[in-house]
Amino acid sequence: MRAASDWEGRMNSSIADVVEGRSSWCVITGDCRNILPSIPSVDVAIFDPPYSRRVHENARTSRRRDLPDVAEATCRTKRRVEIGFEHLHAADRRFIAAWCAQSVRRWTLAFSDVESSLLWRLSFQAAGLNYRRTGEWDRLGGAPQFNGLEPAAASEAITICHRKGRRRWNGGGAPARWSHPIVANRLGQRNSRVHETQKPLGLMLDLVRLFSDPGDVVIDPFCGSGTTLVAALRLGRRAIGIELNPAHARTARERCAAEETQSTLQAVRSGQIALFGNA
Ligand SMILES: C[S@@+](CC[C@H](N)C(=O)[O-])C[C@H]1O[C@@H](n2cnc3c(N)ncnc32)[C@H](O)[C@@H]1O
Repeated sequence: MRAASDWEGRMNSSIADVVEGRSSWCVITGDCRNILPSIPSVDVAIFDPPYSRRVHENARTSRRRDLPDVAEATCRTKRRVEIGFEHLHAADRRFIAAWCAQSVRRWTLAFSDVESSLLWRLSFQAAGLNYRRTGEWDRLGGAPQFNGLEPAAASEAITICHRKGRRRWNGGGAPARWSHPIVANRLGQRNSRVHETQKPLGLMLDLVRLFSDPGDVVIDPFCGSGTTLVAALRLGRRAIGIELNPAHARTARERCAAEETQSTLQAVRSGQIALFGNA
């Protein structure tokens, strides 16, 4: 049985604890541009950074129950979504690409809107990484194009690079396409989704399984609610998350603690600790 103090201790694990094998995960609250330079090296980076300015400005949703002013209307409604974090700047993209080229031993995977994937590819290549493929997350259940004037975005791009040299993944000759439903609030359960742009766990499990091996250190420097980290822990990898927003960082820690103790987010949040599994 694991003691509560043990579990709480892990909420404060450091990057060194993870890299040196004393802990399986940590979530650091802060700006990854300040934190990454202190991390010597990791095996794999998988991240879902802020989107381009265009995506942030055009984000819309069709949910009506969150709109008191139009909730009674029978027409389809759209509302501007406040994504909750700033769009990505070109300098940040170049900074992250340079860090990955210097410090990631194996694969680097970056999500983006399809239109921005070329920018990621060029930044990674300029930094010295070996571009291998642009993968596709087929966003099942994504929002339609509300104005009806052009097709809606159907997928997100995943720019896939490797350090120069020998590479290996666990997918054989499979295509770089993954179909998973978007994470929506469950019907009638407001806030069941824990982050506005939460990635589906099934998608992140696929990527972690394919691009890393048990024992590898996986980093997500824009970890949000920690989906990449949960996938990594479930598959026996170690996980480092960095998140600017303290509330999201806390959620990521709670999800990692729940995963590690084979408990639920609700149980962790309510202070109950299910004490199963190994450290
Ligand atoms: C697209 S979301 C990631 C969502 C995540 N994949 C999930 O499943 O919850 C991007 C996250 O990056 C965070 N972020 C933005 N700029 C950052 C920075 N400079 N350093 C660290 N985190 C940052 C945002 O607060 C946001 O939570």
